[in-house]
Amino acid sequence: MANIIFYFTGTGNSLQVARDIANIIGDTKVAAIARAVKENSFDLAAYERIGFVFPVYNASMPTMVSRFIKKLQLNHSRYIFGAAVFGRSRGMALSQLSQFITECGGTLSAGFGVWMPASYIVAYTALPGAVQRVILKREKKKIFVISAAIKEKKSQHVRHGIAQPRLMAEYISNAMAGFGNMALNFHITERCTGCGVCERICPANNIKMAGSHPNWSTVCEQCVACIQWCPARAIEYGDKTAKRTRYQNPEITLSDMIFNSENHFAQQMRVLDTRNFSEKILDIHK
Ligand SMILES: Cc1cc2nc3c(=O)[nH]c(=O)nc-3n(C[C@H](O)[C@H](O)[C@H](O)COP(=O)(O)O)c2cc1C
Repeated sequence: MANIIFYFTGTGNSLQVARDIANIIGDTKVAAIARAVKENSFDLAAYERIGFVFPVYNASMPTMVSRFIKKLQLNHSRYIFGAAVFGRSRGMALSQLSQFITECGGTLSAGFGVWMPASYIVAYTALPGAVQRVILKREKKKIFVISAAIKEKKSQHVRHGIAQPRLMAEYISNAMAGFGNMALNFHITERCTGCGVCERICPANNIKMAGSHPNWSTVCEQCVACIQWCPARAIEYGDKTAKRTRYQNPEITLSDMIFNSENHFAQQMRVLDTRNFSEKILDIHK
């Protein structure tokens, strides 16, 4: 493969964007950061184009994405691009990406923003379905334009979000440091069937089944995949989410999301249809 795109996702928006770009530019491997972050080193020298696609969390990059990128060894001669997938504003995520890539020896050649349906159910409910469809259709066209630029290795000045005063940056970083403990507010209702999807889907490996019930620990990324993808709609966050509508990217399946998490290999035997699942893996790694 000539190119590689690393992605992180909670509701599937960033995976859709990563896959769309990969399909359009061709000859591209799509790799989950949730799994790649466990590796000690990567040889990226063989790739012509290296991309990072991730959601914006609190105007920043998700913690796991920053941690992953900081471990890489990059090279100025490679075309490196980023796509920040946001619900309202790209914030400072692309500036951060640019800074981290420079610290790893590379240059961010182009940074793009993709505005997808917002997903932070802890703070707000999902947009109405009709609005989601309008946004998804509009951004699909934008992804074509972005992919064309990537294919041609076009450099693009990284457009920064709203300038962030130092105090605001500190406030945001403290808020993100609190994400871990926030996981203790997740709980199940009587609808829980003990299927274990939440355990398998968590990219941070933060959920463990105790018998037929999930338990949350404190290494949460707040990606909210557990609550959004629970097949029984049995997970809530404190008293905030009972009446809120769940959101999942319509092009992404539960199998895709389970594959996305590092738990897949440990839990492989529990996947019901392993044959289709293997096909999915091959599909994703094309
Ligand atoms: C913890 C959290 C914080 C978020 N913060 C922001 C934000 O600061 N600005 C924004 O525009 N969207 C924010 N969002 C919305 C996501 O960036 C957006 O829904 C994105 O499409 C999710 O992508 P994913 O499905 O790949 O996870 C946040 C979402 C979560 C879960």
